[in-house]
Amino acid sequence: MSQRTLISIAGSPSDSSRSTLLLNALILRLEAKGVSVRRFSLDSFDPRALLRAQLDDPKNARFIAEARSAEGIVLATPVYKAGYTGALKAIVDLLPPEALQEKFGFGLATAKSRAHLEATAVSFSRLFAFFRVAHEIPAVTLLDDEVFDPRDHTRFSTGAERLLDDRAQAILRALG
Ligand SMILES: Cc1cc2nc3c(=O)[nH]c(=O)nc-3n(C[C@H](O)[C@H](O)[C@H](O)COP(=O)(O)O)c2cc1C
Repeated sequence: MSQRTLISIAGSPSDSSRSTLLLNALILRLEAKGVSVRRFSLDSFDPRALLRAQLDDPKNARFIAEARSAEGIVLATPVYKAGYTGALKAIVDLLPPEALQEKFGFGLATAKSRAHLEATAVSFSRLFAFFRVAHEIPAVTLLDDEVFDPRDHTRFSTGAERLLDDRAQAILRALG
């Protein structure tokens, strides 16, 4: 069995989240190739312990341990106030600076404004630089209008599907 493992963080607090749907579709592609993905979202944490960054909290401690042992990290977020969400920030803030060293990093964001998507892609790069990830896979940034097929809102657009296929391949290459 393959040992390839990564962690994902869904940064949207929304129950019907576009960015989380895209993340899940990416994860399905990776799992089909034998990658083990440990999924995290706001629901994985005790809110009080998360916001206080209590490192001895069992859920926080489990997240940190999973991040340390994974080979990469995949982030997904809606753009809130021209950046990634506070939920994602609170989760990532749990990690010590060396936790992602020598791993790969990838971010996915959805938003209403293209300018804010670009700002969020830059924020991902800054975050990965802080953690000294070895390899940053180019972010996927999609406007709300670009996520779904304009004729059938139960399906992703062709463009979104292509980007997910491309980044799944890039992640598989990064995992070796
Ligand atoms: C609180 C809040 C703040 C937002 N701020 C921005 C913003 O600054 N720029 C932008 O382009 N879109 C903004 N949006 C729109 C969302 O980024 C966009 O609809 C996104 O695709 C939602 O993703 P989700 O479905 O995964 O939650 C905001 C939405 C909410 C609810």
